[in-house]
Amino acid sequence: MKLGVLQFNPVHKNVNANYKVIEEYLKGVEDCIIVLPELCTTGYLFERKEELYDLAEEIPNGNLTYILMSLAKKNNLLIVAGVAEKDDKKLYNSAVVISPDGFIGKYRKINLFYKENLIFERGERLDVFQVNFLNQNIMLGIMICFDWFFPEIARKLKLMGANIIAHPSNLVLPYCPKAMPIRALENKLYTITANRIGIEHSENDTLKFIGQSVICSPKAEYLMILSEEDYGVFSVETDLKIEHEITKFNNFQEDIEKLYKQLPFLGF
Ligand code: ACM
Repeated sequence: MKLGVLQFNPVHKNVNANYKVIEEYLKGVEDCIIVLPELCTTGYLFERKEELYDLAEEIPNGNLTYILMSLAKKNNLLIVAGVAEKDDKKLYNSAVVISPDGFIGKYRKINLFYKENLIFERGERLDVFQVNFLNQNIMLGIMICFDWFFPEIARKLKLMGANIIAHPSNLVLPYCPKAMPIRALENKLYTITANRIGIEHSENDTLKFIGQSVICSPKAEYLMILSEEDYGVFSVETDLKIEHEITKFNNFQEDIEKLYKQLPFLGF
């Protein structure tokens, strides 16, 4: 199975320019599970809801969803992409999931970071999306950027059956690329973190994004790690082999679920 990311530098507040880049780069990739960064059509840094509202889109009745549906069908892609979602008066920092057969679902970010709290509502549910892709049963869990910092998100996705976590991101702190092999190891799954690059300014703030998109295996390996400057589609071929035993005496799924149910304060 081919796993990939589009690492790029979304143009702030210019959705049409970003649609063009996304189309140009995804046209050149086939038969791949590919992840795009968080908020990949609008850029990241907004101080007020009104600045973003007209640039946000509905899901699934929005331009990005339509564009990705067409690309996924043409090139046989399973795509996860971060996008500012408008739902009536509310905004969410969301991700869409799209297969060659069409729209599969969406996830709304739970752990909002920094000024996102001024703009977005918090998401309220986790989902694992089951997709038959290239004759494999893909159980796709989604988390968005800062969700990585809270290990219970990845653990819950695992307990819901995920074998891959797709992770659209706009990372500004240096820690996540170091942590993701451990999220993959402790939960026995593959992770695909698609980060952005570049610098963004608002009236009174500047953020630099760290690039370094990573794809990790359940053996805590970096299958791929990009630089702070890499731009474009990058992918890696892997067999998606997951051994659920921690040792030959332990079964990950059964033992952990049984234990957590006996300890109700863990909230599982
Ligand atoms: C982040 O959650 N965009 C750091």
